[in-house]
Amino acid sequence: MDTNAALAQAWRAGYKGDVTGDKLQEHIIIRDLKKSFGPNEVLKGISMTIHRGETAVIIGGSGAGKTTLLRILMGLERPTSGQILIEDTDMAALNDRQLNTFRRKLGMVFQYSALLDSLTIFDNVAFPLVEHTKLSKAQIKEKVIGMLQTLGLVNKEHLFPSELSGGQRKRVSLARALMLEPEILIYDEPTSGLDPLTSRLVDDLIEETRQRFGTTNLVISHDMASTFRIAHRAFLLIQGRVVASGSPDDLVTGPSEEARDFVLKSGVDVARLNRVPPASLAGSRKGEVTSR
Ligand SMILES: Nc1ncnc2c1ncn2[C@@H]1O[C@H](COP(=O)(O)OP(=O)(O)OP(=O)(O)O)[C@@H](O)[C@H]1O
Ligand SMILES: [Mg+2]
Repeated sequence: MDTNAALAQAWRAGYKGDVTGDKLQEHIIIRDLKKSFGPNEVLKGISMTIHRGETAVIIGGSGAGKTTLLRILMGLERPTSGQILIEDTDMAALNDRQLNTFRRKLGMVFQYSALLDSLTIFDNVAFPLVEHTKLSKAQIKEKVIGMLQTLGLVNKEHLFPSELSGGQRKRVSLARALMLEPEILIYDEPTSGLDPLTSRLVDDLIEETRQRFGTTNLVISHDMASTFRIAHRAFLLIQGRVVASGSPDDLVTGPSEEARDFVLKSGVDVARLNRVPPASLAGSRKGEVTSR
């Protein structure tokens, strides 16, 4: 059974983010991950399991350790102890060379898009292919133009990042992240700095990309409304600890007072929020992501 079908079945069976066994395949397992900077223990033993093909959102306030966790996942920082298992490989145990190769499984969509301002959209998106593959110019062109079309960026390749809107830049950043066909996409604060309407469009884009490319999504966020819209599973990080996990609704209805408090303080109206529609898990949608 493919992942979308398994997830759909799990939803029908009352999926609360705790489905284990053969229905869902474990993709990323983090075990007792700790990170200290000198005497300051920033991550205090984090454990989480993320299944193939789902969107997991790690949410938490300022200074909780989100960026630190993300840097460790990207192999930019080493943990003090603990494991990060992706399939059967422990990232924390790889040497620098192995890590460099392994990192290709992970695509990163940076906060504020992190495009190179002096390069055209085409060259920004082509960058990973030029750096990491031996593809010919013609092959690179085909891939880049194809991806830009898929993401609704037709005829934008000659423009520079400053000539695009925030939402369009985000899509260029996503196109670049997808070039090496990663299994896992990591989004750093994808909606921060965007107006509510554009935030919604970016949320849709994250979901559409998951369905279209079958990626496992790991999203770092402090946007509660966005979390409700896209997360199959949410982890609330407070001061270096996961204090609650489950579906976004579990954060509100679960036993953790800290979690309820966090949702309350975020100011979102839980009763009126959109949830990731279970039907969206039933199968891949075909066709292009529409231009906005
Ligand atoms: N390289 C570093 N050296 C020393 N301390 C660090 C380093 N990186 C992060 N820290 C500390 O780790 C803690 C967590 O920082 P981190 O950037 O991970 O938080 P965050 O959850 O991303 O916060 P924000 O939402 O504000 O971005 C902070 O107290 C920070 O000072
Ligand atoms: Mg941060």
